[in-house]
Amino acid sequence: MTPQLDALLDTLAAYPATDDAACFTLPPAAYTDPDLYALEVERIFRREWLIVGRTSDVARPGDWFTIDVLDDPILVVRGTDGQVRAFSNVCRHRYMPVALEKKGNDRRFVCAYHGWVYGTDGRLVAAPLMEGSLGFDRARCGLPQYRLEQWQGFLFINLDDDAAPLAPQMAEADARLESYRSAELVTGLAYDTIWEGNWKLATENGMEYYHHMGLHGRTLEAMLPAAGAHMEPAPASGRFAHSRCPYADRAAAAERVARRHASRFDEADATSSYAMGLFPNISLALTPDSNNWLSFLPMGPGRTRVIGGYLLPENLQYGDPETAARRNALIHEVNEEDAQATWRLQQVMASSKAAPGPLNVREGTVAQFYKYLGRTLAPERVAAMPAAAQ
Ligand code: FES
Ligand SMILES: [Fe+2]
Repeated sequence: MTPQLDALLDTLAAYPATDDAACFTLPPAAYTDPDLYALEVERIFRREWLIVGRTSDVARPGDWFTIDVLDDPILVVRGTDGQVRAFSNVCRHRYMPVALEKKGNDRRFVCAYHGWVYGTDGRLVAAPLMEGSLGFDRARCGLPQYRLEQWQGFLFINLDDDAAPLAPQMAEADARLESYRSAELVTGLAYDTIWEGNWKLATENGMEYYHHMGLHGRTLEAMLPAAGAHMEPAPASGRFAHSRCPYADRAAAAERVARRHASRFDEADATSSYAMGLFPNISLALTPDSNNWLSFLPMGPGRTRVIGGYLLPENLQYGDPETAARRNALIHEVNEEDAQATWRLQQVMASSKAAPGPLNVREGTVAQFYKYLGRTLAPERVAAMPAAAQ
């Protein structure tokens, strides 16, 4: 182990026993160190449930899309039997990606190299001219499958075949999200882009409202002022962190929500934006009328694939086109501001004088994210800390 990784793991292990309000940012090296990144891949991304899209992305039988998760090319498809499955998008003959495009609708997949044919259930249904091949057994040449679960309208996959099921881990989050009914929302705007920065910078950014007053000073601050942001109590499961930011005009928000949703939302939810950071890499920013989600998939220490979408109730999606265009332009601008910040931060992470700074009390979500990292990346060291009982 390098001295740098050793020091980083010591730092991470100290977070769980530190008050949220006493936490400092991670050291700059946490965002660049290749060995820490390798450990994150092994202990986080190869083990945790990761969002790859929405159930509505594969609404009809035969709908499919492809996505790379780390080094694994994945084909998600709704079979002609109605089941959604995730397969390895690598041909069982000589490795050609079976689906070469980003998405489509098909009854079968024909490999572009030698024409092997797979069904939407992953089975190999035909392989031309294979007579005489002694090792060929069609039944053994189906596409390998990944674990897939659906939650709140999202599709999750897991690279670990032995991972614990997702649903039980989400019980606390489900209770908190119930009134938002995210599974019923439709995608008004989808993103799929690359941010030039470490996945943790992107994830932290999606967890706090404090940056409204700086980064989103022209776009969000007037509507959702950072000063009012505050933490929600940390969940017992440690599976997520959450905070909220009340609207500047709470009366108007309450009136709007009462008109559209009767009494489904309590007053706090009706008059504020609510952010849930689901560990390791998911950001949900909810209002009674929307869920702006982002999932950050690392492509290396300094590069992150960002997929996400702005979800809203179906009856609002097809409202006044001018309002929709204005809304989409605002969401796009806000995302660009966040992308720029991630890039700017990454640029200075090798600075010899850069040093951890104190977190704001509105950034307790970030502190809890660091605690998750400590527990997950350095569990042995956390257990050996004096306050290990917590
Ligand atoms: S690699 Fe797919 S058919 Fe040969
Ligand atoms: Fe932001």
